[in-house]
Amino acid sequence: MIDTAADCPEGRLNGLNAVVTGAAQGLGLAIAEELGRRGAHVTMADVQAEKVRKAAAGLGEKGLQAEPATLDITDSRAVKEFFGAFVGARGRLDILVNNAGSRQSVTEVAELGDREWDRVLGVTLTGTFYCCRSAAAVMQRQESGCIVNMASVNGQSAAALVAAYNAAKAGVISLTRTLALELAPYGVRVNAVSPGPVYTDFNRQNMAERALSLKISEEEIIQRVAKSIPLGRWGEPHEIAQGVAFLCSPAATWITGEVLRVSGGLEGVSATPPKKAKEKPASSDSG
Ligand SMILES: NC(=O)c1ccc[n+]([C@@H]2O[C@H](COP(=O)([O-])OP(=O)(O)OC[C@H]3O[C@@H](n4cnc5c(N)ncnc54)[C@H](O)[C@@H]3O)[C@@H](O)[C@H]2O)c1
Repeated sequence: MIDTAADCPEGRLNGLNAVVTGAAQGLGLAIAEELGRRGAHVTMADVQAEKVRKAAAGLGEKGLQAEPATLDITDSRAVKEFFGAFVGARGRLDILVNNAGSRQSVTEVAELGDREWDRVLGVTLTGTFYCCRSAAAVMQRQESGCIVNMASVNGQSAAALVAAYNAAKAGVISLTRTLALELAPYGVRVNAVSPGPVYTDFNRQNMAERALSLKISEEEIIQRVAKSIPLGRWGEPHEIAQGVAFLCSPAATWITGEVLRVSGGLEGVSATPPKKAKEKPASSDSG
């Protein structure tokens, strides 16, 4: 009996070499596990060296082929060296999942600092570009391979107070579509997954900051988010991983340049903040 996609031949990734960035925790870890479960050898790259080492060891204990790698995707030279060494060691790169990304501190555009804008764009968009560029060169040569970039519903429908993140994810979607066109003649597929809300570290911090900005409890905002999702609940990491694994699998051989929303039906979170109270002008006789 076929009871999961991993048991279905169309869903298998046996013998394929995969890289997942940001795989030390959260969605990246779930994606690494799902690709491993489907038979891929997974290299788990993350800037958190010790955490990714433990995460890979954990998957190894479950009988999966997982290897840790320390990589900061914002370091252009390090990314080039990483992919060069990867192909040298494993021979080929079949799957790249660009999952690493950074949240933004919850701030309106009028108060958003240069450094926060640059930091969020640097990891989420530029880092994804560096990895795409290296993988594209390898996959072009091989004339095979697939890339899945992690976008977000925010990249398709902007949420208030996280402009840098929205812009970065919209950029990831555009990069995905451009690369899909450029690599199609080589038989290389490039797609994106747009997750809806999943309660990882990323959203633990988001919810805390959003609750503060709305002057409500974290519990309340968590419930509000759940109610805004047509399927009525937050997503689970393995549900995002299933979407990614599908796009990497032989079940998706005629899908490229696509953005797959895995969001319980949620199209976007507008999150309009309340109007700020006007500051009183300083009185001239205040002493
Ligand atoms: N959690 C959600 O609800 C949600 C929704 C939509 C999109 N996403 C996207 O999914 C991806 C994963 O999200 P998550 O919730 O697991 O986040 P997370 O913050 O829990 O994990 C992100 C991982 O990326 C790694 N990372 C950060 N900067 C890096 C760098 N410069 N180089 C290498 N690794 C780096 C971190 O160490 C961490 O392990 C992100 O791209 C995020 O934007 C998440």
